[in-house]
Amino acid sequence: MERIAVCPGSFDPITKGHLDIVQRASAVFDKVIVVTMVNADKKPFFTSSERVDFIRRSVDDLGLKNVMVDSYDGLLADYTKKHNAIAIVKGLRAVSDFEYEFQMALLNKKLNPAAETLFFTTSSENLYLSSSMVRSIASLNGDISNFVPACIYKDIKKRFEKKGV
Ligand code: PNS
Repeated sequence: MERIAVCPGSFDPITKGHLDIVQRASAVFDKVIVVTMVNADKKPFFTSSERVDFIRRSVDDLGLKNVMVDSYDGLLADYTKKHNAIAIVKGLRAVSDFEYEFQMALLNKKLNPAAETLFFTTSSENLYLSSSMVRSIASLNGDISNFVPACIYKDIKKRFEKKGV
């Protein structure tokens, strides 16, 4: 049986930190599905199709053949059921991430007991990284080239210029 993991998130936009987790998950599972989802607490800056496109190009650039990219606006637990995933993979940066992630992991386990949530430790060079920090630096015309995959860097920059923020 194929061992499938889902990497869910807002990915607004995908950062080098996210991509590192996806790459490491792809070495552990037969197939990884990176899926952009709705976080009820956040209003995304990038559209769903932009976020999917950024992820797809970043994954292709690394040549990760067993990684698929998708978007879904329902429950994560339903998505994992539908795709027969045995794991939900997330990156943990710091203790501050823990309470929220722990609560989601417990709820998702109740909703679909067949999928375990696994936390990968964020690599030390990405500990400080978040999509919201990337957006805030980009919106003030700062240099985000160290924080996002090189293949999508220009398009992210352009998008902020276009918005004039
Ligand atoms: O990158 P984020 O914003 O921390 O990711 C959070 C996300 C999108 C994975 C979470 O909000 C989610 O799972 N949304 C889908 C809807 C859902 O299943 N909600 C209940 C979670 S217990």
